[in-house]
Amino acid sequence: MTTLAELLRRAPEAANLSDRPEQELRILAGAATGWNPTAFYTAPERCLNTAQLHRFEGLWNRRLQGEPIAYLLGEQGFWSLLLEVTPDTLVPRPETERLVELALELLPAGHCRVADLGTGSGAIALALATERPAWQLVATDRSEPALKVAARNRDRHRLSQVELRHGDWCTALGIGRFDAVLSNPPYVAPQDPHLGGPGVCFEPRSALVAGNDGMADLAALIDQSPVHLNPGGWLLLEHGCQQAAQVRTGLSARGFVGVCTHQDLAGQDRVTLGRWPGGRP
Ligand SMILES: C[S@@+](CC[C@H](N)C(=O)[O-])C[C@H]1O[C@@H](n2cnc3c(N)ncnc32)[C@H](O)[C@@H]1O
Repeated sequence: MTTLAELLRRAPEAANLSDRPEQELRILAGAATGWNPTAFYTAPERCLNTAQLHRFEGLWNRRLQGEPIAYLLGEQGFWSLLLEVTPDTLVPRPETERLVELALELLPAGHCRVADLGTGSGAIALALATERPAWQLVATDRSEPALKVAARNRDRHRLSQVELRHGDWCTALGIGRFDAVLSNPPYVAPQDPHLGGPGVCFEPRSALVAGNDGMADLAALIDQSPVHLNPGGWLLLEHGCQQAAQVRTGLSARGFVGVCTHQDLAGQDRVTLGRWPGGRP
């Protein structure tokens, strides 16, 4: 028989993977037992039965192999939403909430058409849809399995104003024009050592890695998006903290105006944006 108090003593096993191993153990024990993780405080003497212990061991061993806790639970919080995530989707990051904040600041709350390219779990488009019911959103991805997850998230949160489309970057948009195009595209260079780091190696490489030192997809979006923007429309791009200058240069060279970079909560350059002035793209 194993009590919750005894289980908690195993938390240091995950100390090299996480800066909050006790919290993670409590969450996984909660998922394995069906008990609220507060039981660790209120009833530490409570015993797990054999099935609960077996489920916990399965989850904990996967965590010790480095699998992200979001994949073990099948969900991740983003903005105000709890989203389904699977190994077909990137685990949405808190840094990406900066892109959402900026779109909300820049665009009017009334009717707007906004595209989220490379939507993954649907995180960006669905967060915007919860905040701006009048917006019409198109969310795209090249990955059909990811789009199925995004569709389930959309339906779960009843955000029917988000239309999902399959396809490569702006080709998925057809001939429509938008007030803003947003993207958190793959921007990690193929040789980046972080790709072998804990957690990241479980995420789809196609969601993370871009050629040309991580710049290829950012460059494609800068090149393609003007045709799909209304005059005065915005392009907002998340990127790596070392890529801001290259993205600004690319936007200005393409004819965008008001180009500037914004930082995330950690003070790192994270989102660069520009406005399409109109005229022939
Ligand atoms: C960094 S992930 C971002 C996922 C989600 N927007 C988020 O912030 O959590 C990049 C996404 O772009 C998609 N993607 C990669 N290449 C693409 C392409 N050529 N056209 C459309 N989507 C693409 C991937 O499948 C992945 O879902």
